[in-house]
Amino acid sequence: MKKYTVAILGASGAVGNAMLSALEERNFPIKELRLLASERSAGKKMMFCGNEIEIQKAESNSFIGCDLVLGAADNSISKQFAHDIQKANALYIDNSSAFRLDDHVPLVVPEINGEDVLNHHGIIANPNCSTIIGCIAVYAIHKINPIQSMIVSTYQAVSGAGIKGMEEYQNQLKDVYEGHPSSPKAFDYQIVGNLIPQIGSFLDNGFTSEEMKMQNEGRKILHNPHLFVNCTCVRVPVLRSHSLSMTLHLKNTYDLDEIKKALSHAKGCQLVDDPQNKLYPMPLDTSNQDNVYVGRLRKDLCNDHSLTLWCCGDQIRKGAAVNAIQIAEKCIELQCL
Ligand SMILES: NC(=O)c1ccc[n+]([C@@H]2O[C@H](COP(=O)([O-])OP(=O)(O)OC[C@H]3O[C@@H](n4cnc5c(N)ncnc54)[C@H](OP(=O)(O)O)[C@@H]3O)[C@@H](O)[C@H]2O)c1
Repeated sequence: MKKYTVAILGASGAVGNAMLSALEERNFPIKELRLLASERSAGKKMMFCGNEIEIQKAESNSFIGCDLVLGAADNSISKQFAHDIQKANALYIDNSSAFRLDDHVPLVVPEINGEDVLNHHGIIANPNCSTIIGCIAVYAIHKINPIQSMIVSTYQAVSGAGIKGMEEYQNQLKDVYEGHPSSPKAFDYQIVGNLIPQIGSFLDNGFTSEEMKMQNEGRKILHNPHLFVNCTCVRVPVLRSHSLSMTLHLKNTYDLDEIKKALSHAKGCQLVDDPQNKLYPMPLDTSNQDNVYVGRLRKDLCNDHSLTLWCCGDQIRKGAAVNAIQIAEKCIELQCL
C-alpha cells in the first residue's frame, strides 16, 4: 500500500491535536508526518505512534515533498499558504471556511457526498462543524423524503473556539467558583453560567455568519440548492460536543417509525431515542466519539410534513479532524490522492 507524506498546518491547536490522534487510531498510511504551526509553538514536541515529532514554524517552503496537507488553522493562515501547498502539488484538505463556497472546491462529508472529491483541483474543504453534525443527522431522512427547509438552533461548545475557548472556560469556572470577576477574551461575555446568542459576525439580514453556513454549506453538501435554513447559533458553557435542535419541513407526510428505521441504519449516525427511559443524546456522552447521535424524534404539532429531532456530535472529531481524514481516505479509495 502506498504511504504518504502528510503535513498538519495548525498541529498544536484543538483540531490539529485531534488530527494527530485520529491519524494514529485509523492507521492512516503515513511515510512522513510534518507538524506545522506558528513560531509560538515551533520547537515543542507532540507524540505520534510512540515517537516525538517537533513542531516547525510554517513557511512557504514547508510543503515541498508533501502529498497531503491537513489544514487546521484560521482562514487568514489557510489563504496565506494555499498557493504554496498547490505549488508543492499536495492535496489540501482545509478546515477553515476560506474556500468552502468556492465553485471549484468540493465541500465534503464522506457519508453524504464522498464522490464529490473526484472534482477536486488541489483543495477540498471540510464543512462547518455544526453543518456536518446537522447534515449527518438528517441525510437518511432527506433521502426518503426530501427536506424543503429547516429551523435549527445550535448549542455550541466552547471548544468550537479552539484551545483559547477551552482554556478561558476552564479558568473562568475556577474564577467564578472562587468569586473572582472574570475578564473574557475568547468570548465577548462571561460564558460560565451564561448563553451567548452570537457566533460569528452579524450580517445585513440579522443572521450571523455562522448561522448562514448551515444553509449555504448545507445546500452544497446535500446537492439541494433550494434548501432554506433558519438558524440560531448559541455558545453554551459545555466543553465539547455541539448539540442541535432541528425541525425539518419535508416534501411529503411521513411515518415516524419509518424515519426511525432509516436513521437506525444511517452511516455515521447512532439513534438514541428512548425517552421513556430518559435516553437521548447529550454532549457529555458524545464527546471524543465519531458518530452523530440522534434522538427526541417527534411529529411537529403545527404541520404534518414536519418533524423535530435533537442531535449531538463531537465537533472537533467528526465536525473537523475525523471528517478531514475520512475525506483523505475517500481520495485514496477513489484514486485521486
Ligand atoms: N475547534 C473546532 O471545534 C473547529 C471545528 C471545525 C472547524 N474548525 C476550524 O479549524 C481551524 C482550527 O481551529 P482550532 O479550533 O483548532 O483553533 P486553535 O485551537 O486556535 O488552533 C489554531 C492553530 O493554528 C496555528 N496557527 C496560528 N497562527 C499560525 C501561523 N501564522 N502559521 C501557522 N499556524 C498558525 C496555531 O499555532 P500556535 O499554537 O503556534 O498558535 C494552532 O496550531 C479553524 O479554521 C476553525 O474554524 C474548528
